[in-house]
Amino acid sequence: MPKPKLLITRRVYDPVLQSLSGVFDIGHNQDRDEPFTRSELIQKLADVDYLLCSVVDRIDEEILAAAPKLKCIANGAVGTNNIDLKACSARGIVVTNTPDVLTETTADFAWALLMATARRLTEAEHYLRQGHWRGWSFDQLAGVDVHGTTLGILGMGRIGSAIARRAQGFGMSVVYHNRRPASDASLARYVEKEALFKSADFVVLVVPYSPETHHIVGAGELSLMKPSACLINIARGGVVDDKALVQALSTGTIRAAGLDVFEGEPALDPGFLELSNVVLTPHIASSTRATRGAMMQLAADNLLAHAQGQALLTPVI
Ligand code: DGY
Repeated sequence: MPKPKLLITRRVYDPVLQSLSGVFDIGHNQDRDEPFTRSELIQKLADVDYLLCSVVDRIDEEILAAAPKLKCIANGAVGTNNIDLKACSARGIVVTNTPDVLTETTADFAWALLMATARRLTEAEHYLRQGHWRGWSFDQLAGVDVHGTTLGILGMGRIGSAIARRAQGFGMSVVYHNRRPASDASLARYVEKEALFKSADFVVLVVPYSPETHHIVGAGELSLMKPSACLINIARGGVVDDKALVQALSTGTIRAAGLDVFEGEPALDPGFLELSNVVLTPHIASSTRATRGAMMQLAADNLLAHAQGQALLTPVI
């Protein structure tokens, strides 16, 4: 019997490819590792049964219509906002994601951004590399303290909880807001969204992106924040109104921001590049070798389970 056809849209580590090669006839992107264009994707999906894709592949009705044999999509990410789940459901296509394996790594990175933002790390390094340092002074690149302050987490899921756990070591009070109070959030106190923005010294965004969370942080929310507060976004571009954030950072409405995700990435609002009070990283919160490897392997294992008639490990639909 011929093997089912699988398309992998981005480069994956060799052991992951090997684990799939016995079961699937694989079309891959190992040499180029750039996203396929939409027309490439449409053409490549014509006779494909399985798809392993990434957050940058937009899988919508037009793409699905071009893939009549597609049975299962493994998204190499926990977020699935790049996939039209309703359209997949209507076509009987199952979708999986990669929860859990990236929780701790992503929480670590939220903290890296938080610390870098509070203590002006990238600004300080640029200052030094550009030869501006003339010696020690009392007020040099003075930041704000992290210990003993209030952390606000918007979106208390697995990653939010892991961020809250780390805050204990810094003696912080932690408040959070979700659509409804989380049953297991013992390290944090539930507050209304407005109270979170008003009271937190650091607001970390961890909500999934959806029409409901589009621009959940805009000019209104930013104006509630303390002028000394920092905003950290490791969720998704589109959760924050980036134009409003550039404005808030330029006018001192808030002190600083640490951003790993952007509206329209990989492009970003040019206003951010002009500002020294923002730490910018290119969507790498889950990017350690171990964790990206685990994400790829979990996506692969879901495909293998489906092809071998076993239960999916981490189904979304
Ligand atoms: C995720 O898992 O959703 C991440 O954003 C991918 O890097």
